[in-house]
Amino acid sequence: MGESITMQEDAGFYFSTNIPTENIMKNPSFQARRDDILIVTYPKSGTHWMQAIVNLMVENVDDLSERYKQYQYHLEYTPHQVMDNAPSPRVICTHLPFERIPLDFLREKSRIVLCVRNPRDVAVSYFRFCANLKDIDYRGSFGGFFNLFITGKLPYNSWFDHVFSWLKVARSGRQNIHVVRYEDLKQGFLSTVSDLACYLKVDTSPELLEKIQKRTSFENMKLSLSDYLREMSINGQSVIFRKGTVGDWRNYFSPAQVTMLEDVMEEWGLHKNKSISFYD
Ligand code: PPS
Repeated sequence: MGESITMQEDAGFYFSTNIPTENIMKNPSFQARRDDILIVTYPKSGTHWMQAIVNLMVENVDDLSERYKQYQYHLEYTPHQVMDNAPSPRVICTHLPFERIPLDFLREKSRIVLCVRNPRDVAVSYFRFCANLKDIDYRGSFGGFFNLFITGKLPYNSWFDHVFSWLKVARSGRQNIHVVRYEDLKQGFLSTVSDLACYLKVDTSPELLEKIQKRTSFENMKLSLSDYLREMSINGQSVIFRKGTVGDWRNYFSPAQVTMLEDVMEEWGLHKNKSISFYD
């Protein structure tokens, strides 16, 4: 509590105190299925949004909040017995880096969707999340949090280690991983989601995609899931649905922080005009 984040550690990997350790250790007993859809994100990168989109795509349900209560599977949190008994196709999300996911997903060649978001906006969203979550109760400044973010002293470590653990595999072609940018969902929802449907081999009509767009708009999700995780909040505001915008980092970053993060991004090859770039 206070200026630091309370968390567990395994061989340099940080994770929340309420996660059973075996769930971050490749979990050899986990049984994946060929038709599973694994949504991979660094925290605060659009996990809930992507999970709602994919759930609505594979099963055209009417009540998003019901679907949420029943089928919101999280590799680190959902008891594995619950997932073992779940109907297919399962939509499972995880924040784990590539090295820590159960090997069975790779053996089964399950569909994997990596959703990435500008690390600057992720830093701000993660800061506000940690300050609003009873379990973490971070009381420090954004500056203090920025230092934790840039050094990876947070649950799930550094954005860069996480995202690149997956991008490396996606780019090597070893595993067929579909990459989606949060910013592309914001700017061109229908074309981004249409590409996603192709990758998932899900039949969709333009009407269904438009319906999904409306149902998963930030305002609708915030409204229909207004009670979701509310008991975890310190200030009564949703711990998940905060602003849902691109560029809020401009309200938080000092010029020195902009330069510092830009230097790290350049070190990792995230230059302007690259296929995954975050300069817009
Ligand atoms: S978590 O806790 O890691 O699973 O959080 P995650 O869902 O990955 O990310 C939360 C941020 O995603 C924003 N969000 C959305 N943006 C646009 N549209 C929709 N429908 C949507 N749903 C969630 C949410 O507001 C968080 O971002 P910030 O910047 O904090 O608002």
